[in-house]
Amino acid sequence: MTELAQAHGLTLRQDYFGDPSAWKGLVDLLQDTFSIDVGIQDKFGGPDRGSMPFGYFDGEGRCIANFSAFSMPMMINGRAVKAAGYQSGAVRPEWRERGLYRDLMRRAFERTAAEGYELDLLLTDKPELYERYGFRTVPQHVFIAQMPKLQKSDRAARQLSLETPEDLHLIQTLLQNRQPVSERFAVIEQTEMFLLNACFNPAIRLTALGDDAVIAWTFDGATFWLLDVAGTAIPSLATILSALDVEPDRIEICFSPDRLDCEASIEPYEGYTVLMARGKAAGEITGPLILSPMAEF
Ligand SMILES: CC(C)(COP(=O)(O)OP(=O)(O)OC[C@H]1O[C@@H](n2cnc3c(N)ncnc32)[C@H](O)[C@@H]1OP(=O)(O)O)[C@@H](O)C(=O)NCCC(=O)NCCS
Repeated sequence: MTELAQAHGLTLRQDYFGDPSAWKGLVDLLQDTFSIDVGIQDKFGGPDRGSMPFGYFDGEGRCIANFSAFSMPMMINGRAVKAAGYQSGAVRPEWRERGLYRDLMRRAFERTAAEGYELDLLLTDKPELYERYGFRTVPQHVFIAQMPKLQKSDRAARQLSLETPEDLHLIQTLLQNRQPVSERFAVIEQTEMFLLNACFNPAIRLTALGDDAVIAWTFDGATFWLLDVAGTAIPSLATILSALDVEPDRIEICFSPDRLDCEASIEPYEGYTVLMARGKAAGEITGPLILSPMAEF
């Protein structure tokens, strides 16, 4: 038992996602803290079993503090980087300011260091909390593309629904077999966050181009946002727009567009959270770049 746990009558649990009641404890903690329901992942096969959660539970089995690390392999400037993401950081209000979060962060960072992760990534609205652990903010940019010349499309575009088992299966298969959407900065494999982000924002459309790519996008009638492409091959921007049959006034690409065969300028991205990085591969991150909103965690 840890000293902190002993002092407060708590139990420290690690790697507890195999226990449904402990997973439910984390779902409740995140619901109460952030008003989000990560329990909807149960429809897609449950949480990421490779995740490394560290949590404190009270005598009634309530999760009162948590911090999780998870594997998030990244493609960065042409190199596959063994990266960890950190998420689900929360402490119930009545348990704050006692060092529980500091303790859980330390445990998670020790674990990933011991497992040889070369890059640590997180998204936060409280960057000063993590600066003291060596994290630095990575500026993000969106890419404003020129309208490419559209072609007559021979690719069948089909709107997908996460509620339809065959559609879900296609999306999951492509997420597992995808090529990184960018050579400069993109996740190599990350299924759970893509599905969760698609659920959280009903404006996101998922459209299959044939059976080898799913386009995640939104369109408000004027601006088209290209959020991600999960595919065994990455089609050009012209192919995507032709197949989706949209002619927007403005095109914003929310990942580095180096594989889209298009011209783009950059604008600073002003998000609610900032991307932070540390670790020996952090110096390899060179802009302009943005983490796809479908990989946000
Ligand atoms: C942020 C939060 C997790 C801190 O939990 P906690 O158990 O009170 O934190 P601790 O007592 O372990 O303090 C850890 C360190 O964080 C600092 N800290 C705590 N809250 C902070 C805040 N809001 N902003 C900046 N630093 C903060 C503490 O000063 C302490 O610093 P030190 O180690 O240099 O002394 C908790 O307030 C919370 O759940 N907030 C709402 C959810 C949230 O914002 N989560 C983080 C998402 S990135």
